[in-house]
Amino acid sequence: MTDKPTTREIDELTGTETTGHEWDGIKELNTPMPRWWLWTFYATIAFSVGYTILFPAWPMISSATGGVLGYSSRAELHQDLSNLQTANQAVVNRITELPLHEILADGELTRFASAAGASAFKVNCSQCHGTGAAGASGYPNLNDDSWIWGGTVDDIYLTIAHGVRSATDPDTRFNLMPNFGADGMLDRAQIKDMVAYVAGLSGIEAESASPEAAQLFLDNCSGCHGADAKGVAELGGPDLTDAIWLYEGSVASIEAQLNRARHGMMPAWSEKLDDVTIKQLAIYVHGLGGGQ
Ligand code: HEC
Ligand code: HEC
Repeated sequence: MTDKPTTREIDELTGTETTGHEWDGIKELNTPMPRWWLWTFYATIAFSVGYTILFPAWPMISSATGGVLGYSSRAELHQDLSNLQTANQAVVNRITELPLHEILADGELTRFASAAGASAFKVNCSQCHGTGAAGASGYPNLNDDSWIWGGTVDDIYLTIAHGVRSATDPDTRFNLMPNFGADGMLDRAQIKDMVAYVAGLSGIEAESASPEAAQLFLDNCSGCHGADAKGVAELGGPDLTDAIWLYEGSVASIEAQLNRARHGMMPAWSEKLDDVTIKQLAIYVHGLGGGQ
């Protein structure tokens, strides 16, 4: 590297001035910035000055400079939210006012209610009924077309609002299957016979029932499960002839239920959720199972 040059030096080949730096005979050209680049650079400076004047920009101690246009992203968000709410409020009002069967008659209302119901379901119901509402042992599948407490949208609404065997809601769905075995209402042979009979109704493999079994069923069980064993929705006695079971549906689980009934419980949701939400849940659940 040489010392600072005293005269301007022009590179012969390019005609451009050099910076005066030189390494082993190689000189550095002092090529000027391209014009387009310079102008873009000046434009961005001008833009940033304009921007900081018009919009909130410089941080201060507790907030930032406001900008002469008075724009605020928070205010914009509030505006967006309140626009959305006004738009939804009209629909929510109609869901509040209309009876369930009229909501179902309106495709758009049904879609809205169902979507809102689906998200309320994820928050409040999925821990027992599963995210897809497919249920688990003791928690009914809500996707099938079989309903313990009735599958009209009004039935479903009542079940959700007042719960099943809720300790706190006087209007709750309530019925207790007796403990036929534990309370000695049927002897061991009769229990075995009833297990075989009930298993046979839906084709579960078991020993065959005695000729007296049908009468024993009529005398002890038909009050809640129906003479044809197809269930009594008003009493929450499940259909015993379909292949849909609340409790597994094995010989062992039928026997367990006959010895000591389980009495599943569901909270009364009117204690926690507002009426519109319960209506939306009823519409959503009704849509899952095809309803009745
Ligand atoms: C703590 C557990 C639990 C939660 C949470 C729960 N459920 Fe249930 N649900 C049950 C049980 C148990 C039953 C069955 C009761 C019975 O008849 O033995 C049931 C039954 C039902 C039925 C009746 C099904 C039929 O075949 O008739 C509907 C409808 C229902 N639940 C909807 C809901 C909705 C909607 C929510 C959320 C808002 C919900 N459940 C939350 C436990 C629960
Ligand atoms: C007072 C009403 C009542 C009577 C009487 C009754 N049940 Fe039940 N049964 C129910 C209810 C309610 C359920 C719902 C399950 C529960 O306890 O949560 C049920 C459930 C069952 C289940 C389980 C169904 C499933 O899907 O897992 C079987 C099996 C059953 N009952 C058989 C019988 C038989 C057999 C008799 C007669 C010996 C009988 N029940 C008498 C009310 C009754």
